[in-house]
Amino acid sequence: MTTDRPNDVLRVYGNTPLRGEVRVRGAKNLVSKAMVAALLGNTRSHLYDVPRIRDVEVVRGLLELHGVRVTDGAEPGELVLDPTNVERANVDEINVHAGSSRIPILFCGPLLHRLGHAFIPDLGGCHIGDRPIDFHLAALRQFGAVVDKTPQGMHITAPNGLQGTKFELPYPSVGATEQVLLTAVLADGVTELRNAAVEPEIIDLICVLQKMGAIITVHTDRVIEIEGVKRLEGYRHRPIPDRIEAASWGAAALATGGDLFVRGARQADMMTFLNVFRSVGGQLEIHDGPDGGIRFYHPGDELRAVAIETDVHPGFMTDWQQPMVVALTQARGLSIMHETVYERRLGYTEALNQMGATIQTYRECLGGTPCRFGRRNFRHSAVIAGPTKLHATDVVIPDLRAGFAHVIAALAAEGCSTVYGVSLINRGYEDFEAKLAGLGAHIERP
Ligand code: EPZ
Repeated sequence: MTTDRPNDVLRVYGNTPLRGEVRVRGAKNLVSKAMVAALLGNTRSHLYDVPRIRDVEVVRGLLELHGVRVTDGAEPGELVLDPTNVERANVDEINVHAGSSRIPILFCGPLLHRLGHAFIPDLGGCHIGDRPIDFHLAALRQFGAVVDKTPQGMHITAPNGLQGTKFELPYPSVGATEQVLLTAVLADGVTELRNAAVEPEIIDLICVLQKMGAIITVHTDRVIEIEGVKRLEGYRHRPIPDRIEAASWGAAALATGGDLFVRGARQADMMTFLNVFRSVGGQLEIHDGPDGGIRFYHPGDELRAVAIETDVHPGFMTDWQQPMVVALTQARGLSIMHETVYERRLGYTEALNQMGATIQTYRECLGGTPCRFGRRNFRHSAVIAGPTKLHATDVVIPDLRAGFAHVIAALAAEGCSTVYGVSLINRGYEDFEAKLAGLGAHIERP
């Protein structure tokens, strides 16, 4: 089994309970958006606690292509973003640089405000679903943008400027909500967004924009109102911690029978995960304070089966699903995972079955709520029968979160697995291999 990057391989020796401490830094899914927001300011922004991950590098490169000066600040993990000389970037360079990242679409509003033009490369689909951008384009058009699709990508202009508008999302999309926020803050007049996403990363982005001078009100029932202003300044911001990475390590402790202290993990952003973790039989200790975190550990007794549905906030995050399924292969009974956010986010379970798991996927909605994917031929519900002994195998990583899940399954398994495509994990997990090694994992590059 190979990938197009033959050196991108990790050997993982199993039967290793992970023990020790890891630190999580600023949330990937906020940091990348806060970097884009810096484009809206007239002065320099300072973003702290930025993890060294591939997605940050991609956004940094895209900003630099547009004339933003990005430098490392005085504090470790600090980025200084200077947008005073923003300029149009070369279309071919954007295409090469963006790779498979979804972030370029969020450059639209800021670039339209700064330059009157934005180019968005073809973003394509991916292993977890089609990931269309129809909500983004509909919202942009309603602000007054004109979208011209070409074979290379989309050219977007705003011949009459951008005007505040009323828009209701068909589904509370994280990216489309960010699109509206980043466009509305400098649009002319008031924007009302209904059915908005209200993930903690969205609220943190609103905090960034408020620091810059924006006027944004979050009402009840997913309504966000933005009063356009004439000018925004730079910001200084310390992001919320990465609750996806924190939960991944929590699930890894459970799956491998280990004991991990995740420094930086914050209870308030992870309550739904913590409830599930405890229902499965995991043990927790929550430490508050500036240097606090959460200890996740396996109790030594048998784990219990649970039924979970992924959902938008405050539901169980779709990005928590994959490592938790690995832990559920070790729970007694039949667990259910109903994935309601992405239609194809259970494909990675095939590799777990090759490792000895018993996971059956279904087209039907097996949760309490029928979702958008029922009757649409997507295997988006899974039944996990446990406990099952896992054994080593060769596996190709399909995407970021599934990749993490495969590695922890390999750590829980008997024998030595070969994992291909591990660099995908570096998109979202800082120092992944060093952290694993520090927790006692026996891994090596062949
Ligand atoms: C963000 O993706 C995150 N990515 C994802 O994390 C996360 O899984 C997701 O939100 C949900 O929490 C980043 O923040 C960079 P969406 P996003 O728009 O914004 C449909 C990770 O591993 N939809 O909320 O792209 C879409 O197909 C990544 O860190 C449309 O139909 O997600 C999906 O079914 C993976 N049309 C649903 O909405 C649109 O125009 C939710 O997607 C937009 C979205």
